[in-house]
Amino acid sequence: MATASPSAAGDARTRRETYHEADVVVVGAGVFGCAIAYALANQGRSVLLLERWMKEPDRIVGELLQPGGLAALKKLGLGHCVDGIDAVPCRGYNVIYRGEPSLIPYPPVDDSGDVPFKWSGSGKDGKRPEGRSFHHGRFIAQLRRACLAHENITVVETEVLNTVRGEYADRVLGVESRTTVGGEAGEKKRDYFFGHLTIIADGYLSRFRKQLLGSDPVVKSKFYALELIDCALPQEHFGHVIIGDASPVLLYQIGARETRALFDVPQGIPEAAPAAGGVRGYIKNVAIPALPASVRASAERALGDGKIPRSMPNSWLPPSKQTFNGVVLLGDAFNMRHPLTGGGMTVAFNDALLLAELIHPSRVRNLEDARAMRAAVDAFYWRRKALTSIINVLAQALYTLFAADDRQLRALQLGCFEYFRRGMTDGPCALLGGILQQPSVLAYHFFSVAFVAIWLNSCAVMGSGPLGLLKLPLAIVDAGLILWKASCVFLPLLWREGFR
Ligand SMILES: Cc1cc2nc3c(=O)[nH]c(=O)nc-3n(C[C@H](O)[C@H](O)[C@H](O)COP(=O)(O)OP(=O)(O)OC[C@H]3O[C@@H](n4cnc5c(N)ncnc54)[C@H](O)[C@@H]3O)c2cc1C
Ligand SMILES: *[C@@H]1O[C@H](CO)[C@@H](O)[C@H](O)[C@H]1NC(C)=O
Repeated sequence: MATASPSAAGDARTRRETYHEADVVVVGAGVFGCAIAYALANQGRSVLLLERWMKEPDRIVGELLQPGGLAALKKLGLGHCVDGIDAVPCRGYNVIYRGEPSLIPYPPVDDSGDVPFKWSGSGKDGKRPEGRSFHHGRFIAQLRRACLAHENITVVETEVLNTVRGEYADRVLGVESRTTVGGEAGEKKRDYFFGHLTIIADGYLSRFRKQLLGSDPVVKSKFYALELIDCALPQEHFGHVIIGDASPVLLYQIGARETRALFDVPQGIPEAAPAAGGVRGYIKNVAIPALPASVRASAERALGDGKIPRSMPNSWLPPSKQTFNGVVLLGDAFNMRHPLTGGGMTVAFNDALLLAELIHPSRVRNLEDARAMRAAVDAFYWRRKALTSIINVLAQALYTLFAADDRQLRALQLGCFEYFRRGMTDGPCALLGGILQQPSVLAYHFFSVAFVAIWLNSCAVMGSGPLGLLKLPLAIVDAGLILWKASCVFLPLLWREGFR
């Protein structure tokens, strides 16, 4: 329990180190685990943070932090973790549609943090927020360093295997794990860790998801990654999205000299079949030729090592309600969206901030208080929607449009790009950047894009000749189909986010 005297903090440390007992046990020292451990420790809670591999991770995920995520990181007291790691500022996106670029900077915000032009057009003046991109492993190492240095956190390198449940009440009391003692080849021993609250954030392959949520992620494509060296991006300090006949490609700097390229490859496409040269063939013959000229040479160099690029599945896992009995599952284990918009860490940091606020000792004095905890976890599920539903729906909807594989989706794709070209960028970019928490703004822009798409399609169908009017019925049928398609993309996503 939270007490103020320094000796209490010392006692708590002894209890963690000697008896493996704390207020909170956190599983996974990744993006979410580090953030929540740090936030709760700052509230005076005693925290055990368990991680299977403390070595600096080398992964192709979590490399671009949106401004809304950076703001949450700062509020958590971890803002310094993006310093000293060769991080690069990100000012927005450059969407290149069939060779034609459209710059979408993060919009200016006013003093209260609001976006003045969220419904229309774009503001020219004002302070624009920034995101950061970096090497994932260096950032995680910084987060872990902050946790290791915190007097109220004990970090233990151990692989968690199971939850431990009470004999009488069906309540999780902690976890069982396997610790390797005496170096890498050392002997493995069973360990147990106990807390009034167990928070599991063991990532996208969570071994606890099935048991605690009963749901599975949906995977329709993978990102294959290259690291380009000394690549000249058309627009410095902007993330690039390349759209055209190939599936979307993302490009963003992760260091002074390094640029990440992520190639989306949908499952089962013929261009990536073994006969067509597999994924390497697809990247070489389809994806790289569609990249801006200044990027192609460095991409070919990076592919030149002859290896199959590293990959990660692009998962969709809508959030589901959890009934609290001592444990909560969070981070990617609980909720995922396509990484196209780089929203995962922004969700994680905002979730950590919100949960910490809802279980602050001034609200939930004792974490063993099951009723108070149940109410807090319930409130968390509903309150997080204001931001996460936007990030989740936007990621899935944009991916569907950008990887369009039928006529109506291609019409919507064209509409979307025209929308940006006409300068309707502040609202959409604020949503993407996680700096606007108003789902109605998303619905407004999505259907505005649909109407632009219908307008462009009608003009194309009817042409300009005198007989154009005869084709009006055709244009009207098309309009219906496009609107229907837009609804089929958008409404089920909202439904799965729990808006019903
Ligand atoms: C291709 C790709 C690109 C992405 N790009 C971005 C991006 O640019 N920006 C962005 O914001 N998000 C991005 N994301 C999403 C982002 O990476 C995740 O949302 C984020 O890492 C989730 O954090 P987490 O803490 O839930 O999981 P993780 O960060 O994966 O952390 C899980 C931790 O748990 C540990 N662990 C696992 N099992 C155990 C166990 N049994 N015992 C002990 N420890 C365990 C792991 O070692 C790890 O340290 C991307 C995702 C993908 C797939
Ligand atoms: C650690 O916890 C104690 C209460 O046990 C609290 O007084 C102290 O402020 C906490 N330390 C930090 C750095 O937050």
